[in-house]
Amino acid sequence: MEEFISKINSNFLTEKGSVSAKCASNIALIKYWGKRDVQIPMNPSISFTLNNSYTETVLKFNPKEDEEIALKVFLDGALKEDFAPKIIQFFQRIEKYIPFLKRFEFEIHTHNTFPHSSGIASSASGMGALSLCLVELENQLGGNLKEDEKLKKASFLARLGSGSACRSIYPGLTVWGETENIEGSSDLYAVPYPHEVHENFRNFQDCILLIDEGQKEVSSTVGHGLMEGHPYAAQRFQSAEENLKKLIPILKNGDLEAFGKIVEHEALSLHAMMMTSHPYFILMKPNTLKVIEKIWEFRKNTSLPLYFTLDAGANVHLLYPEFAKEEIALFIMETLKSQYNSGKMVKDFSF
Ligand code: PMV
Repeated sequence: MEEFISKINSNFLTEKGSVSAKCASNIALIKYWGKRDVQIPMNPSISFTLNNSYTETVLKFNPKEDEEIALKVFLDGALKEDFAPKIIQFFQRIEKYIPFLKRFEFEIHTHNTFPHSSGIASSASGMGALSLCLVELENQLGGNLKEDEKLKKASFLARLGSGSACRSIYPGLTVWGETENIEGSSDLYAVPYPHEVHENFRNFQDCILLIDEGQKEVSSTVGHGLMEGHPYAAQRFQSAEENLKKLIPILKNGDLEAFGKIVEHEALSLHAMMMTSHPYFILMKPNTLKVIEKIWEFRKNTSLPLYFTLDAGANVHLLYPEFAKEEIALFIMETLKSQYNSGKMVKDFSF
């Protein structure tokens, strides 16, 4: 971890200014659920980084004298006092690696291109964008991180803010968590997926159905905590590792049916963990199940490659290849849209 400690002398910083960065959210195919120590995952995960759903952050810095962390967070121009504690905790965790954090008072101005509580992880894109701002600032203050070092450090930092955020630093398929199946993989930062990927998975579509726009019932911090002492935890971590291993040849040969089986199994395993923890939760809503049944029926009737995944909530991510997007868009608009109350959706894709 020594490599991530900034070498710049932070004692005489008088500069004031701003840096900015943009970072997209991601959707996991192999899910991270369960962690130990400080943000170390219990199993490796793979995700697609999205394109349209991103956070833009401007980090303003102004030198100061005292030894406190001082920051204010603004979302779309409005001060968000309730956002500050999570970012202060993040700054405390990363201070060792970014020693100038107490030398400035910061204003963090963020904007998300996607709606709040949409099942798109704004913590991933937000922590990712802020981490990219911080490595940018390090270089502006005299650091000399090269482009690849900047991304690696940003991924390392983002992990300490929100685990899955470390995967958002890279576009496309990304892996986080040490596994013998991915050379160069690490528990400390994400790496771009290194193996061959079939063209079926290029510009892969993710249409997110906003089944439930309410506040998250279970925060991911609580959710990860529920895996400690969970009766099926060991089997789940092993199953994620096995699913990841099986996914590698599938991503290479383009077998969409096999891909769907793994991805849906992962989503349902995540929810099964929540249904069987103490306390237990059902995060799907009746309309989540209605949509899932319609997807399965559609697949049976048309043989078209439409699959779903879920995060720790009720919203459904529809996953499908670009070549089938017209027919599937028709099915979404004609059938799926009427299965849930809001009828709202966010269309995105990944390279
Ligand atoms: O990064 P966190 O702590 O918000 O956890 C995210 C967990 C899931 O989104 C449910 C799965 C994943 O791998 O992204």
